[in-house]
Amino acid sequence: MNKILAPSILSADFKVLGEQIRTTYEHGAEFLHFDVMDGLFVPSISFGMPVLKSIQGVAEQVMDVHLMITEPIRYIEEFQKAGADFLTVHLEACEDIKATIDKIHACGMKAGVSIKPNTPVEQLLPIIDQAEMFLIMSVEPGFGGQAFLPESLDKIRALKAMLKERNLTALIEVDGGIYQSNVREVLDAGVDVVVAGSAVFKGEIVNNVEGFVEIFKEYE
Ligand code: DX5
Ligand code: ZN
Repeated sequence: MNKILAPSILSADFKVLGEQIRTTYEHGAEFLHFDVMDGLFVPSISFGMPVLKSIQGVAEQVMDVHLMITEPIRYIEEFQKAGADFLTVHLEACEDIKATIDKIHACGMKAGVSIKPNTPVEQLLPIIDQAEMFLIMSVEPGFGGQAFLPESLDKIRALKAMLKERNLTALIEVDGGIYQSNVREVLDAGVDVVVAGSAVFKGEIVNNVEGFVEIFKEYE
């Protein structure tokens, strides 16, 4: 399974968002990570369905939507209509995680479940066989540009073992503080999808994307 780069547009220049998204796709980023924040579940507000809708068709990327919002079940249909392919919700934000996952599937999307740094990975066990992706937050959700939390590596390894024991093929995604300098650590721990905001959109986008793609080749 090849490794996947998912640039987070949270760090993009919104004056030229379409152009920057296209550049990431043309140089090898298969996913586009879309960080939705409501100012309630996390202490910041980002963007929502209108922006997601507006970037449909810019590139052929998989729309990897990360909902950092309270009770996301309320917006599943609207994000499907706006173009989400993967819809990831936070375990900590859902009254009923199973019903939320079922609704994501009923709307024809792949389901992701994310946990914050302080949430033990074992809390994913009740739904370990129900989602297509699990997102390990390697920073406290809410802002780009934070430092990677090294304790995330043990959580990634533990999640990889949990999936392997059950012959499950769900993807493992990591989000927060990932750079070319530390990405091998998370890849070695078992990550399939790497979210990177600052490391892609700050500085030379082409070089940044190609740098990750080069490293990913070591894992083919
Ligand atoms: C946190 C956000 C960030 C963002 C990536 O809520 O989800 O993790 O995607 O940020 P960088 O790559 O700039 O650390
Ligand atoms: Zn994210």
